[in-house]
Amino acid sequence: MTAISPPVSEPGIPVDALRMRLAERIRQEGPLRFDQYMEQALYAPEHGYYERAYPVFGASGDFVTAPGLGDFLARCVARFCDLAREELGGGAIAEYGPGNGRLACDVLGALQGSPDDYWLLERSSWLRKEQAETLSAQGSFPRWTDALPKVFEGVVLANEFLDALPARCFEVTDQGIRERMVAVREGDEFYWKLEASSGSDPDLNRLFTELGEVSAPGYCSEWRHDALRTWLDELDGSLKRGVVLIIDYGYPCREYYHPQRATGTLRCHADHQAHSDPFRQPGHEDISVDVDFTAVAELAVERGFEVLMFTSQAGFLLEYGLLEVADPSADESTRLAQRGQIETLTHPDHMGERFRVLALGRDFPAELPHTVCPDHRNRL
Ligand SMILES: C[S@@+](CC[C@H](N)C(=O)[O-])C[C@H]1O[C@@H](n2cnc3c(N)ncnc32)[C@H](O)[C@@H]1O
Repeated sequence: MTAISPPVSEPGIPVDALRMRLAERIRQEGPLRFDQYMEQALYAPEHGYYERAYPVFGASGDFVTAPGLGDFLARCVARFCDLAREELGGGAIAEYGPGNGRLACDVLGALQGSPDDYWLLERSSWLRKEQAETLSAQGSFPRWTDALPKVFEGVVLANEFLDALPARCFEVTDQGIRERMVAVREGDEFYWKLEASSGSDPDLNRLFTELGEVSAPGYCSEWRHDALRTWLDELDGSLKRGVVLIIDYGYPCREYYHPQRATGTLRCHADHQAHSDPFRQPGHEDISVDVDFTAVAELAVERGFEVLMFTSQAGFLLEYGLLEVADPSADESTRLAQRGQIETLTHPDHMGERFRVLALGRDFPAELPHTVCPDHRNRL
């Protein structure tokens, strides 16, 4: 996810509808866990950020993701899918959280072989419509589904999907770990309230046992093991043979919970500006939390998946042909645009190192190549 100018204003949505509803709920039920707040802020029917009939992606929206920069990511992902399907002797493709449908559109356009099916798994009804428009304009007709087919063989794609799954927040205090809950004061203003009881969550305690050194009072961060378990359980129940390709920003847990990352990874995006206050305008801006790739890998291994690859986005793209997808005979302005796209996707200060790629295998018959891309599995 990256920011570009210019900012835009938002017509037609009652500014405080969701804030009022959430404030009322907190007054009646008491402080909300942040994952419940995030869930509502992003997906509440009609007023949740991803449910509003208003552009999210691109210049007229709030942020740009890698598929919106051009088709280079999609072409490398398509090559990955072709090679994986070759190893599997066929199979389908399923994409979680397809956004505006751009990645699906460009992957379908670049695939050498035709998959048995291309499934889209999207919980936002508004984005499903946008996906249908993007894809039908290209003459592609994938299928939407609420859950993977019972028996699925092939490739599962998740680009910037896990960062949108609700997370919980904690703070280290002199008295121990506390969960950061969402409370409300007069004027429907939200604020963080620390709560002792849910700070005894086993996932959080395990993290602290393993990471001992993160102990300075005031240290804040996030964890989302509950949401990861739900997703991985779904994959576990359906994926019989194949590979799951996860591309997202995040870190292995030792980097994620590094003592210097003391304010966590929670980020909001509105009008191509980023900030870290999720209470500013719920429902009108994106909220995301980085991915703890160690947690994903460990929970996946517990379910019998194998970690086939963990590398940087730059490494993955180079491994899967990034330098071959650029057209050296294009005119100068196209070559400039291509160079810009490659730089944003691969430069360590842009998406190249902040985005990581994790591939999980289930009964997958081959190793994945690490010819060009660094093998970072030992960092997980
Ligand atoms: C940050 S956007 C990324 C979109 C797209 N993959 C891209 O890279 O441009 C997150 C996407 O995940 C979808 N999403 C979030 N939770 C979901 C869930 N549980 N099931 C399906 N889609 C979900 C959102 O509606 C949105 O399409």
